[in-house]
Amino acid sequence: MILILLGPPGGGKGTQAVKLFEKYGLIQISTGDILRSEIKKGSGLGKEANQYVSKGLLVPDDIMIRIIEKRIADDDCKNGFILDGFPRTIPQAKALDELLEKLAKKIDKVISMIVSENFLIERLTGRRLCSKCGAGYHIKYSPPKVQGKCDTCGGELIQREDDKEETIKKRFSVYQDQTTPLIEYYQKKSILREVNGEGDVESVYRLIVSIIEE
Ligand code: AP5
Repeated sequence: MILILLGPPGGGKGTQAVKLFEKYGLIQISTGDILRSEIKKGSGLGKEANQYVSKGLLVPDDIMIRIIEKRIADDDCKNGFILDGFPRTIPQAKALDELLEKLAKKIDKVISMIVSENFLIERLTGRRLCSKCGAGYHIKYSPPKVQGKCDTCGGELIQREDDKEETIKKRFSVYQDQTTPLIEYYQKKSILREVNGEGDVESVYRLIVSIIEE
């Protein structure tokens, strides 16, 4: 099964992808995570990407398409995957269609998570990530047992560089301008399903599972 989670920054894509992995064993391909890992390593790609990521702008399509082309050809993607954060533009969506056609695969469903800007700011300013294992928390909605420490590995919890209010606003406006046209793109292909992403994590998860199992 190939699923796309489409939604604004802080919409809950990463949170739901982790839960769907636990239920269906579908691996999560998060382009944001791939870029952050390159930025952390200080690779050439990371340095280039950081010029965009730090400002809340999209990394150019050709770079992102090369990343996805390489990643979906990996062995662990054979039985399907969840795309979290890709595609984000019409050229990326068209390139994905071509890549999948070459692999004789197709997208099963695109789940568009609808969440308004007020929710996003609260969710993103409160998000914390483990600096060691990457596990995600929220200071109000899913706090760690011990403040500032990861429940799983004890690593220090940190805030993402681009989770500052000003950058969040920029990311949201970029999403509206460049990513929302994908809603119509996938509606025309009759594979788009919308979910209200404003409920709590469990209720949004149940809505997504019911769509997958339609
Ligand atoms: P990326 O990492 O993909 O960021 P994003 O799309 O902005 O999404 P987020 O990771 O911020 O949010 P999410 O929807 O996963 O929410 P989460 O589940 O964590 O991309 C970062 C940057 O990389 C981009 O800005 C761009 O520069 C670049 N990039 C990446 N892909 C690209 C591409 N294809 N093309 C070009 N550039 C690209 O939830 C957020 C918080 O809310 C968490 O704390 C969570 O615990 C909490 N939460 C989640 N769900 C709920 C709920 N239902 N109720 C209460 N709290 C909740």
